[in-house]
Amino acid sequence: MESFSIWIVSGGAGAGVKHAGENTVNTNELKGNQARGQKVFADNCAACHGADLKGTAAAPGIAARSPTYAFRQLYDFKSGARKGANSELMKPVVENLSIDDMIALVAYTASLMP
Ligand code: HEC
Repeated sequence: MESFSIWIVSGGAGAGVKHAGENTVNTNELKGNQARGQKVFADNCAACHGADLKGTAAAPGIAARSPTYAFRQLYDFKSGARKGANSELMKPVVENLSIDDMIALVAYTASLMP
């Protein structure tokens, strides 16, 4: 799953292809890092979604959700595209997350069993 996460954040098919001006940073250290996602989750999300990500009375389970789906939800909560009574709980949480935080988060959440 680690390699799948890296595949996603590094742009999917064709990601290994070098483009003009592209440098050789280790993207695994910068983006989609599951360890970073685990830390951000523990600090910001576990209270509602459960330490095992299987949900609580307050929020649905999010373990093993498709990473692209989960990322889109986080992005939409932040932008306000996803709204509704329950979404109000997510809004303040995602407000301070960067795109890289979200990528790291979904790399982590998608790596777990449902
Ligand atoms: C204060 C409680 C709370 C916290 C903290 C919280 N969430 Fe949520 N989350 C919710 C609720 C409630 C929903 C359902 C919203 C809805 O139905 O519109 C939700 C929905 C989601 C969804 C969409 C699930 C789906 O099936 O569509 C994702 C993904 C998610 N949260 C991830 C996170 C992440 C990642 C964090 C930490 C950065 C986090 N949440 C922190 C309460 C919370």
